[in-house]
Amino acid sequence: MSTDFSETGIPGLDSLLGGGIPSGRVVIVLGEPGAGKTTLCSLFLANGYTKYNESGVYVSLEESRDHLFREMTRFGINFAQAEKDLHFAFVDASPIRHIPNVVKAGSMTIGKKEFSLVSVIDSIKRSIATVKAKRVVVDPISYLIFQYSNPAELRGALLDLVEALNETKATVLLASELRQSGSLVRREIQMEEYVGHGTMIMQSIPVGKSLVRSIQVSKMRECEIDRQPRPYRITRDGIEVFPKETVF
Ligand SMILES: Nc1ncnc2c1ncn2[C@@H]1O[C@H](COP(=O)(O)OP(=O)(O)OP(=O)(O)O)[C@@H](O)[C@H]1O
Ligand SMILES: [Mg+2]
Repeated sequence: MSTDFSETGIPGLDSLLGGGIPSGRVVIVLGEPGAGKTTLCSLFLANGYTKYNESGVYVSLEESRDHLFREMTRFGINFAQAEKDLHFAFVDASPIRHIPNVVKAGSMTIGKKEFSLVSVIDSIKRSIATVKAKRVVVDPISYLIFQYSNPAELRGALLDLVEALNETKATVLLASELRQSGSLVRREIQMEEYVGHGTMIMQSIPVGKSLVRSIQVSKMRECEIDRQPRPYRITRDGIEVFPKETVF
């Protein structure tokens, strides 16, 4: 069976991905601070509604609506207009950070971790329905992850999140922090990499005396991918990937 792709529209990235993000799948965007995770995810949504007739939902666990909208206008993205046109919805999921440790739901009490996961999934589903979204971004999932100290519990929670997102049939990018950067080979694999359909890693690699921004598709189930790290640039036009150039 051939794979359908949701093109990112980011120059160079779709060819690196072998066509785009596999449609209806959940892909992890891992990156060091300032790597451009938010920019890449925003371009994926903005190109979705401007070029491919696909609405999008942006679920933010950290940045406020105003802050994100203002930052992205620097790249020519007008989320405010897209919101008016119902091509885009912004979900502020940051309140989950302030949930008390135990939450009462009727006569039951549930823990903060379970409640935050359930409420994020619930708001994503509602917003998808509002704009009939085909693309979803959750940025970043790091806060959800840090709540779990038990790896088995974390894996279960991530699988629940991925399963719920798969049910929506939307193509999903989950941004997450890269915990160890600078090394392409000897690095600890992060739990979210196991549960996602694929992973893209954005980091700066030391080359000689300088740092080169590199993007690597380290995993993409069912796809033939180029696993080499490739250089990318961030400019006022957005992100540009150079799929034929080498980092070293
Ligand atoms: N016009 C521009 N030219 C070059 N670089 C730019 C330009 N505008 C923004 N940048 C860079 O792009 C990056 C934007 O990163 P973005 O916020 O998307 O990263 P992030 O990975 O989401 O970061 P964080 O971990 O803080 O969430 C910053 O490193 C910034 O310096
Ligand atoms: Mg960010």
